[in-house]
Amino acid sequence: MPVLETTDLRKRYGRIEALGGVTLSVKEGEIYGLLGQNGAGKTTLIKVMLGITGGWEGDAFLLGEVAGTAHVRSRVGYLPEDHHFPDYHTGYSLLDFYGQLLGVSSATRAKRIPDMLEQVGIADRMHYKIRTYSKGMKQRVGIAQALMHRPEVIFLDEPTDGVDPVGRRDIRETLLELKKHGVTIFINSHLLGEVELICDRVAILRKGKMIREGDVATLTRQKGRFLIGLAPGQVLPVAEIRNLGYDATPLEDRWEVHLLDGQNIDAVVDYIRNKGLNLRHLVEKRQSLEDLFLETHEDQSTRRDKKRDRRDTVEPITAVEVHEEDRRS
Ligand SMILES: Nc1ncnc2c1ncn2[C@@H]1O[C@H](COP(=O)(O)OP(=O)(O)OP(=O)(O)O)[C@@H](O)[C@H]1O
Ligand SMILES: [Mg+2]
Repeated sequence: MPVLETTDLRKRYGRIEALGGVTLSVKEGEIYGLLGQNGAGKTTLIKVMLGITGGWEGDAFLLGEVAGTAHVRSRVGYLPEDHHFPDYHTGYSLLDFYGQLLGVSSATRAKRIPDMLEQVGIADRMHYKIRTYSKGMKQRVGIAQALMHRPEVIFLDEPTDGVDPVGRRDIRETLLELKKHGVTIFINSHLLGEVELICDRVAILRKGKMIREGDVATLTRQKGRFLIGLAPGQVLPVAEIRNLGYDATPLEDRWEVHLLDGQNIDAVVDYIRNKGLNLRHLVEKRQSLEDLFLETHEDQSTRRDKKRDRRDTVEPITAVEVHEEDRRS
């Protein structure tokens, strides 16, 4: 059974359609990223799931209960966006307060609070008032608050907003650690590079509609596009490769081969080797999640131009082993 599931979820704020029929499902133990421009409906989706906003249509279930059911809330952690915790609290007293609300015993709180604050990197400031914290420190306290009662599912709305790179890495590590313990994590984020690093699956929302969903590797793969590099000074006989029926294009110091249905890159590699050329580089092209995101948000005309410009930004996912005897040139 999915931890979270929506079917044709719709939510309107007056004339604004914040969610226009969203269907998604999050499995237990997975890190799921919801992406989308400002106003796409990301926060609204979390608010529906947690019963913060009502008046929605369609189906939405959280931990097997209809979204908004009060008693599942104790099994859920939540970091709201733009939160303002009462700043007369210290980091410690805030966690103590929320822990108490969520039924964490006082002995457990006394042990867990310093550990949690250590984990998010603000243990040394835990007895200072929140009003003296920087933005990133407030965000870290917020994350500790969301985790205080060891929830099974956590919703994080822009968790790394305002956090410095080291802090962001710490948060990523904390989330991956939670995942190891089977916690299901739902993240709204704009920081696509980060989402790419930790999410198992992502969905892209646009004006309340889901336009893409899948695992990051599959979504960003440019299927059938390979980049080939040869030893210095060698040139790929593009015309001959084209005669073989392959779509080959010279780039600056590399060549791109675009496979058609049923073609296999092995045939090109064999051809290169038979010609006595030395293969030094072979990768299947990938676009970054950011490219994918931009692509899905651009209009058709600008999209084509950008795509051309982006051809060169690649990230190796399959590297060919180059044997010693190949290093002749
Ligand atoms: N309480 C509200 N009253 C009226 N309209 C609202 C309300 N909350 C959200 N909206 C509208 O619903 C749409 C979705 O908003 P939402 O906050 O879910 O977007 P978001 O994807 O979280 O954006 P951001 O990245 O800026 O946080 C927007 O058009 C927003 O203006
Ligand atoms: Mg939001």
